[in-house]
Amino acid sequence: MIRVAAVADIHLGEGMTGAYRDDVAALSDRADVLLLAGDLTRHGAVTEAEVVACEFGDAPVPVVAILGNHDLNSDADKEIADVLVDAGIQVLEGNGTVLEVRGISVGVAGTVGFGGGFAGRTVADFGEREMKAFAARGRRLAAELGEALQQLKSEIRIALTHYAPVEQTLEGEPREIYPFLGSHLLADVIDACEVDIALHGHAHAGSPSGRTPGGVPVYNVARPVLRRPYHVFELAEEPT
Ligand SMILES: [Fe+2]
Ligand SMILES: [Fe+2]
Repeated sequence: MIRVAAVADIHLGEGMTGAYRDDVAALSDRADVLLLAGDLTRHGAVTEAEVVACEFGDAPVPVVAILGNHDLNSDADKEIADVLVDAGIQVLEGNGTVLEVRGISVGVAGTVGFGGGFAGRTVADFGEREMKAFAARGRRLAAELGEALQQLKSEIRIALTHYAPVEQTLEGEPREIYPFLGSHLLADVIDACEVDIALHGHAHAGSPSGRTPGGVPVYNVARPVLRRPYHVFELAEEPT
């Protein structure tokens, strides 16, 4: 049994140092790995990322993160990633990593992902160049996630995104903004890759759980949805 702690949308900033200290220390008894599914900062400021690094850099378990749209807000995503990596946090950007946990390989593929909408109500690759760019970003990031998942040679496979792959975990948000909260393209690549669990954030007012059309469990780990510092998922290794 592998214990995966996860949370998204912690939105840390200046003055919040110490907010997670006790909960991070407690991970040594509670989890084998911690996954952070984006929106780690409020405005994407490097100074905010330094708070994130301070909170999670000395975690007693490996920490794997992706960025969210808030972390991209100041065009400082490279600097933010550098701050996190320097603190020992692994940052995924359309790639994957495999951790060894008590002899079991746990693969995580991650991307911020993007919007675009869900079946029947998706962005069209047509018209203004801005609309085509919107559609193209969603396609590109989903494809990168798919490639990263394909390359994971691990017993457990986890898809980590900021944007949602399914609609069910958005329930509670206004339907009008669903196309800005996720994309079915993420679920398509997840379903193509024998993923055990998909985790996302971004939808603060969404719902805790759903399932891809192919049956992969999806969980919205946004901090306001969890209502606690992180949730620990227990994943069983598939018998071979
Ligand atoms: Fe957020
Ligand atoms: Fe977000």
